[in-house]
Amino acid sequence: MPLPRTAAAATAVVLTAGSLVASAPAALAAPAAPGAPGAPAALTDELLVVGHRGASAYRPEHTLAAYELAARMGADMIEPDLVMTADGVLVDRHEPEISGTTDVADHPELADRKTTKTIDGTSYTGWFTEDLTLAELKTLRAVERVPELRQRNTPYDGAYEVPTFEEVLQLRERLSAELGREVGVIPEIKHGTYFDSLGLSMEEAVVAALREHGLDGAGAPAAVQSFETANLRELDGEVDVPLVQLTSPTGAPADLVAAGDPRTWADVVSPAGLADVAGYADVLGPDKAQVIPLAADATLGEPTSLVTDAHAVGLLVVPYTFRPENEYLPAELDLGTDPAAHGLADAELAAFWRAGVDGVFTDAPDTGVESRAAFLAERA
Ligand code: G3P
Ligand code: CA
Repeated sequence: MPLPRTAAAATAVVLTAGSLVASAPAALAAPAAPGAPGAPAALTDELLVVGHRGASAYRPEHTLAAYELAARMGADMIEPDLVMTADGVLVDRHEPEISGTTDVADHPELADRKTTKTIDGTSYTGWFTEDLTLAELKTLRAVERVPELRQRNTPYDGAYEVPTFEEVLQLRERLSAELGREVGVIPEIKHGTYFDSLGLSMEEAVVAALREHGLDGAGAPAAVQSFETANLRELDGEVDVPLVQLTSPTGAPADLVAAGDPRTWADVVSPAGLADVAGYADVLGPDKAQVIPLAADATLGEPTSLVTDAHAVGLLVVPYTFRPENEYLPAELDLGTDPAAHGLADAELAAFWRAGVDGVFTDAPDTGVESRAAFLAERA
């Protein structure tokens, strides 16, 4: 369902006090690379650390405990991925299918809900949030997604509920008051076109929740992300918070595929595509491999032109996802041969800070904060 357009002005964004904050559109009028003459000062002064799905390296993802730990580790913003229940409540899961992150399979009373669905062209078998009411979902408990890599998280299996977006916003307020700083929230609308097709449109609910908590205006410690494009274009006229266009190295945005639009992610991150994105979004959220790909030997390669190209049209660049385990690190940064062992995550982050990124999504906010401090000291 399209959102009503109430204001057409593009919103620029600067990084202020470690958070994404909407600014006057004028900032977009004179785009320049960070550090270059004419670059908005704020663009170069603050670098953002986002707690990806919370502090997922240390607690089961998308639990209140994970978000709280991320904030206590110093994350500027916490990141709930959002899907919807059968009764239209926004809840925090990375995907509608929840057998990998909850104990739903252990609930015989829900056994008949197991089914197979195709979402954005991929078939999934399991249990789906849109087939459960919130009351049913609240009987489940979160479990670690990758127990083989994050065994230290498994003692928390069964300890936490699946949170609602509302609970995250309440947590954000409580932690902001306690910590004496605004903890930002950066929700991602997951599979918007798919949920639209079920009559469970999420965009309106996200806007309503942000408004309810006073997070829909310029300067609010909030931003909204999506891998789709049409919903961000609609939100650009609806809320005055930074909008984050997420991108992938391969494939195409699901909403464009559904509409028969032939544009791919490669088109979106081309110079012309980025100029289009800058018309409705403020931040580019690429896969980290789109910023610095791995070389043939799986070591960190050379930076692409993406940061420069995005900055040239006024987009900040906040790549995902930085993780501390050897499994996810460039080969030369592994420590030992155990995929679950933590390697030199700070060195990977340092390479990205030096490549000019404006922030990072990380499962280990402590490494994000520490690497940022080291980089700022190096740059001083
Ligand atoms: O939103 C940034 C990052 O989270 C995007 O990837 O799949 O982890 O939601 P994903
Ligand atoms: Ca996300």
